[in-house]
Amino acid sequence: MAQDLSRKISAAHDEAKALYVARNPKSQAIHEEATRSLPGGNTRTVLYTDPFPICMKSAKGYQVTSEDDKTYTDFTGEFTAALYGHSNPVILDAINNVLQNVGMNVGATTSQEQLFAKELCQRFGLERVRFTNSGTEANLHALAAARLFTGKRKVVVFNRGYHGGVLGFKGGKPAPNNVDPNDWIVVKYNDLDAATRAIEGEGVAAVLVEGMQGNGGCIVSTEAFVAGIQNAAAKAGVVFVLDEVMTSRISRSGFAGLRGLQPDLKTFGKYLGGGLAFGALGGRADIMAAFDPRLSTSISHSGTFNNNTLVTHAGYAGLKHVYTPEAADNFTETGSRFLLRLQEAVKGTRITFTGLGSVMCSHFVEGDVEVKDVASADDIRENELLKDLFWFEMLEQGFWVTRRGFIALVLETPQSELDRFVDAVQTFVAKYRDVLAL
Ligand SMILES: Cc1ncc(COP(=O)(O)O)c(C=O)c1O
Repeated sequence: MAQDLSRKISAAHDEAKALYVARNPKSQAIHEEATRSLPGGNTRTVLYTDPFPICMKSAKGYQVTSEDDKTYTDFTGEFTAALYGHSNPVILDAINNVLQNVGMNVGATTSQEQLFAKELCQRFGLERVRFTNSGTEANLHALAAARLFTGKRKVVVFNRGYHGGVLGFKGGKPAPNNVDPNDWIVVKYNDLDAATRAIEGEGVAAVLVEGMQGNGGCIVSTEAFVAGIQNAAAKAGVVFVLDEVMTSRISRSGFAGLRGLQPDLKTFGKYLGGGLAFGALGGRADIMAAFDPRLSTSISHSGTFNNNTLVTHAGYAGLKHVYTPEAADNFTETGSRFLLRLQEAVKGTRITFTGLGSVMCSHFVEGDVEVKDVASADDIRENELLKDLFWFEMLEQGFWVTRRGFIALVLETPQSELDRFVDAVQTFVAKYRDVLAL
């Protein structure tokens, strides 16, 4: 990018950042206070933004309101977990019912957990399912089952894949805080030849893959890639684990349903808990038998809150009565139309939007080429200043988008707000045409 364009972006960025600071004094003060008890004032890394994060006071419907009293339309959607919004009456009723009539922490099995399990099995084609407290745990336990089943240890994963707080893969290697640092084979996403070679290697228990890399920037797999992984795994006797933590909302039966895949195991989380902490793993009965306590060969799968009454009621109510198969298909359609409009709005610029259905991400590509299909986040370098500038400007327009560009739509967002966002993107493109146009 030419020097004068870079200077222009820098100047616009400085101006937008100054406005952000001026607009959010209370958030800044809360952040400064928070640094006295939390490292960097933060207990969830993804939510830290420079110079300080905007602090939210409340949320209702499809909106969130900051401590500085600005109300935003929520396009962050709690990184897909807030699909139901912030006060869906069906979910609130389910939670209130538990508080008033059922009780919390009963320390026993309940009939509700089998009801919820049955619903999940039917919806996502699982023979057996187990609940956890997070998507991270779901993946950890799925890999434990795969290892027990195969008697092997290694796991094939993909660069820029994210499967949880201790299961991240960037720069071609496991993150420094990952579990089992020596057991991973990290392969380029959407590279089927490399994936097949890795799956056929010695000592491989499982291949763990996202149908769309969510955290990695909503990079969608090609049809051939995931289907090829499924075939290669079946041939090599390797357990194929599809991470559906983010993608289970795409279509009535998740990403696997959309592509006609039949993974050995799938992992879940996010909205499926009705907005409460949740995870699940499920699939083939013979592999899930790893957790059957009646068998002497089984392994323990514990977790105080695995079957807690709040999540089993709220999760069930959401799936049964709100995100019905028809609602899931319709919402995916709404998201796809919205994504197409965004892609249209940024044509001929260095911005691109990738994603699937109601989950997507903006990219500000360094270099003078228009990028339409991104096969791997390794293939693009992002202009972080432009990304920031976009974030500042969308906040200014009243949209709660993530700093990294990730967007997860909330079910009840009115069409008028989706339209307004497309307008805001068009305005952004027009305002910075000289630095964005190719
Ligand atoms: C694909 C994927 N897998 C697993 C996880 C981890 O889920 P949790 O944050 O509930 O531990 C995430 C979280 O963002 C995710 O996107």
